[in-house]
Amino acid sequence: MLLLAIETSCDETAAAVVRGGRDILSNVVSSQIAIHAAYGGVVPEIASRKHLESIAPVIGQALQEAGAGMDELEGVVVTRGPGLSGALLVGFSAAKAIAAARKIPFVGVHHIEGHLFATFLEQPVAFPFLALVVSGGHTHLYHVEGFGRYTTLGRTIDDAAGEAYDKSAKIMGMPYPGGALIDRMARSGNPDALRLPRPLLHDGSLNFSFSGLKTAVLQQVARNPVTIPSQGADDLCASFQEAVCQVLAAKTGAAIRQSGATRLVVAGGVACNSGLRSSMAALCTQLGVELYIPHPSLCGDNAAMLAVPGDYYLSQGLASSQSLDVTATWNMDSIKDTLP
Ligand code: KG4
Ligand code: ZN
Repeated sequence: MLLLAIETSCDETAAAVVRGGRDILSNVVSSQIAIHAAYGGVVPEIASRKHLESIAPVIGQALQEAGAGMDELEGVVVTRGPGLSGALLVGFSAAKAIAAARKIPFVGVHHIEGHLFATFLEQPVAFPFLALVVSGGHTHLYHVEGFGRYTTLGRTIDDAAGEAYDKSAKIMGMPYPGGALIDRMARSGNPDALRLPRPLLHDGSLNFSFSGLKTAVLQQVARNPVTIPSQGADDLCASFQEAVCQVLAAKTGAAIRQSGATRLVVAGGVACNSGLRSSMAALCTQLGVELYIPHPSLCGDNAAMLAVPGDYYLSQGLASSQSLDVTATWNMDSIKDTLP
């Protein structure tokens, strides 16, 4: 099917045109980061207003770059949740309106379903597989049996990995969101310079906790203020990244051993991280597991990734009703109960 995909769950207004859940004809992402950076984080009211301003031009650009007309679209897929309600509503209303006007089906999908299947835009992955989703709001291990069939094996009990990166970056005086900057500085630092905690490393569960690590960074900076750029800042970034990657690799390794998985998908904005990419590669080589991580351009929020589950649901006749609404919170495990 030729699908229009729309994503507005947080601070990116994104639209894409994708054929057959695989061929990306366009993938437009308009980021609001520069606006929110002045406030040190995403301001929900501003996000909604900016989505309203950008949604029509972004959809227009996606169609133009794809060389497709509205009349050629066969369906629309959109993020239904989780996310900021006001932000979600902008994309969701646009999707419903286009579907109603063009008399084509639309489907609302979970934002994390998009991240999970982004790698399918590069190559299909056989089911079942284990997935580690690491983003600004999620740090979850899922057993994925098929589209819509997800079981959470472990999750963060406090901050998500991306949140820990961004909060630690803020403590070090970096602009929001600082995850990518920590990654860049970590490459020139010594990962053994500081011994930071590895929360829940040996608790026997598949859960994560990152808020203590962020507090350790706060205490370290209070004792030894860092200036950027400096070797001290690079060392702190490298030591922080080492702690995060070691915990993520240890828990993912335990999940692989427990589940007997032979394939691992790593997804979400933090999957751009160079340290994580190499520690996951080393882990999978050691355990003889096939590793799938999307190209960094498909790890962060975008709309094309939604077209993979969207194409599946619509081709199965599982369209959403015009009476459906957005949902700010949404448990992935509950999706299988709604499938026929
Ligand atoms: O998936 P995403 O684009 O949005 C959410 O759904 O949350 O993830 C954004 C998160 C932010 O916390 C950002 O700092 C983090 O991904 N991130 C990184 C890197 N690139 C983006 N964190 C660590 N290293 C990176 N290279
Ligand atoms: Zn995301």
